[in-house]
This record gives sequence, C-alpha cells and structure tokens, in this order.
Amino acid sequence: MAHSQAFRSIAVAILGPVALCTQAFMAQAGQDYALVGPTVVKKLNLETVYNHSTSGLSLIKADRRVLENISRHAHEERRCGGYELVTLSHPLNTLKSKAEVEGLFSRLPEARQKASKTQNRTGDVPQFSQAIADTLTEVSADRIKEDITWISSYPTRYHRSETKNVHVDELKKRLAEVAKASSFASVEEVIHSGNKTEQKTVRARLLGSQAPNEIVVLGAHFDSIRKGLFPGRKPAPGADDDASGSSNLIEIFRILSKGPQPQRTIEFMWYAAEEVGLVGSAEVAGAYAKEKKDVVGVLNLDMTLFPGSGTLAFGVVTDFTSPWLTNYIKELNRHYTKAKVIDTECDYACSDHATWHRLGFPAAFPSEATFSQSNKNIHTQNDVIDSKSDFNHSAMFARLGLAYAMSLGNSRHRGP
Ligand code: BES
Ligand code: ZN
Repeated sequence: MAHSQAFRSIAVAILGPVALCTQAFMAQAGQDYALVGPTVVKKLNLETVYNHSTSGLSLIKADRRVLENISRHAHEERRCGGYELVTLSHPLNTLKSKAEVEGLFSRLPEARQKASKTQNRTGDVPQFSQAIADTLTEVSADRIKEDITWISSYPTRYHRSETKNVHVDELKKRLAEVAKASSFASVEEVIHSGNKTEQKTVRARLLGSQAPNEIVVLGAHFDSIRKGLFPGRKPAPGADDDASGSSNLIEIFRILSKGPQPQRTIEFMWYAAEEVGLVGSAEVAGAYAKEKKDVVGVLNLDMTLFPGSGTLAFGVVTDFTSPWLTNYIKELNRHYTKAKVIDTECDYACSDHATWHRLGFPAAFPSEATFSQSNKNIHTQNDVIDSKSDFNHSAMFARLGLAYAMSLGNSRHRGP
C-alpha cells in the first residue's frame, strides 16, 4: 500500500471551530479517507465506504476532486469544511481495518455524536434471536448453586481482613482454567493503586472479533462485609450479597468462552471493596473514563438469590442508571426470561452501577426484588444459603446477563 504508515492523521474537525476551516483547502492527495457528515453525503450524493449509524458519519475515499467539491459546498453554505481526513493503516474490508474504523468512530467526542441529526434518541432495542434463546438453555442452576456455596464458604471476603485476597486468587485461578480452552478469552487481576484497598479486582475478557474497542461490561462485587464492630473478624458469608451475582457472571463467562467469538469485547469484573464505598468499580470506571474507552453498556448484578417479590418477578433499579439500558434489559426479559419487572429505587448510590453512571457510562441494575422486599439478612452472619434461597431465581439473572452480553456484544446497538 502506498500509504501504509501506521498513523492516522486528522486534518479537519467536522463542524469544528472556524479557525480550522482554512485547512479544508489544504486537503492533499495522499490522505486515504475522509469522514463526512450526513448532510454533505446526501447533498453531494457521495459514495461512502462505511456508515456509522450512531453518529450519522460516513467514511469516503479521499479523492481530491470530491474533497474540493465538499469544500466548495461548505464555502457556499458558509459552513466549515465538512470533512475530516484520516489515514488508515490497514486496507479496507480486512478484519483489522474493520476494527480500526470502528475504533475511529468510537473515539468521536460525544458532543459530535449528539450533533448528528440522524441519531436515534431513544437508543437501540434488542430483537428476539433464536440463537440467544438456545444458548440460554445452557445456564445451570446447579452450577450456580455450587459456586455460591463455594464463595460463601470463606469466613469473610472483607477487603481488610487478613484473607482479603484468598478468594480473589482462587477465582482468578478457576477463571484462567476456563479461559485456557478458548482462543479469545483472558483473565487478569487489577491491583488498585489508591490507598483505599489492598484487595484486587478480577477482570475476564472475551476479545471482540469486529469491534474490539467497543466494550460490553458485566460486573458483580466479590467482597463481603459484616456490619458492626470489627467487620473483618466476624463471619461475613455474603451468599446473596454478592456471591450470587458473582456466580452468575462465572456461569455466563463459562458459556460464552466456548464461542462463537463475540463481535464486541465483553468484559466481566468481580470488583474489590464495594461494601466500603464502591472502591474497586470507581477505580476501574475512572481509568476507563480517563482512557476514553468506548463502553457501550454496564450491567451490574448484585443480589440475585432471594425472590422477595415473587419467584417470577424482579426489581430493576431506575435511579443512577441509564433509561435506555434499563429498557434494553426489560425488552430482553420480555423476549427470554418473561418475569414481572418492577421499577424500584435505592435512593442512593447503592452499588457499582452508580460509579459507571456518574462517569457517563450507560448502566443497568436488575436485582432480586424491589429494594424494600430484598433480603434483610445481608451484612450479617445470616446471609447464607437457607430455605429461602432460590437458585432458579438466581439462574434467571444469569440468563438475563447472557442475553444482554449476546445482544449487545453481537450488534451495533447503542444508547442515545
Ligand atoms: N447489595 C448492596 C446494595 C443493595 C441492597 C442493593 C439491597 C439492592 C437491595 C450493596 O452491597 C451494599 O451493601 N451497598 C451499600 C452502599 C455502598 C456504597 C457501601 C449499602 O447499601 O449500604
Ligand atoms: Zn452489601
């Protein structure tokens, strides 16, 4: 390729400040492609090589005559240049270029996406898929029971106990065993740099085949607490809060790591130190915001074992969450899990969805029951597996999370 340098040069900002307009006329041959807005594509009937639905922007071949035409048009309309030159390092229509082009769009500032006229303001809605319905039958309530039994058997998972990372290391080992059999799965630990906790977060990743820079997140907290004096020295089994959500994620990871490889990257997180102020998720989400990662959705699973609002019912938290993603979850429930969904509020930043939400990422939080009907034994030595524990209820959340990962992970779906 003539222009195969591994860099991407950007000459003009679309609808950018007037100062940049002059550069539109400096368009040179030697740039591979140009990003253009929907108005210009329509008006000049441009041939596009890629269309990005969320932003309404398109990629065109950077032919000198076409670019001059765009500039002239922009000039006549008294508007700025109307394109952005980009150099791609891979030939179009190869797998690598797809990822590169997706990455290019995913880094577009939100403001620019919002300026788009073609944007779907309510966000995308999932359709029914037989392939997803078939995969959901693989979820095993027995395996979830085994995992909740294992995780709640540690005397405590409190982030400042002497054994703060014993269960974390064991989880990482077990997940690595699962990932070993997959060509696109990996597992790592996140060491928290702040001085708030020495407990680690575990992150498992299924690398996306088409849009690896677009990330679908599923999270649960892997710590526990026993409220009162000496929270680290007394039993804190945390079976419901949150061995249950943690086990749901393990089950989803197990099933999805077998393939097929998802189009987007799917990340699973077992957060450290949620019970002392959302510490683990705050640091992870903060780093993602700083790195401008393109997180398309965050699903939080925290407490799924106690069917306090009935066996075929659950709560969905409507504060500190995204209305789009919450509706997305409701639609998935309509297609697959078919439970009664009851809107509920925590009234405060009650779990890890809130940290993502605060940083501008779309988050959703379906939970075992309405807030007032949820398990009252949490944070005590009585948060154990007992006669009220319902593993089928918990498995419903694994199915919901699996449907979420498959729908959002294999589509271009986005929020508004
Ligand atoms: N799982 C709870 C939050 C929760 C409780 C959700 C009941 C739904 C129903 C979570 O682990 C927790 O305990 N959160 C803390 C707040 C956090 C910021 C320390 C809480 O609710 O006190
Ligand atoms: Zn808790």
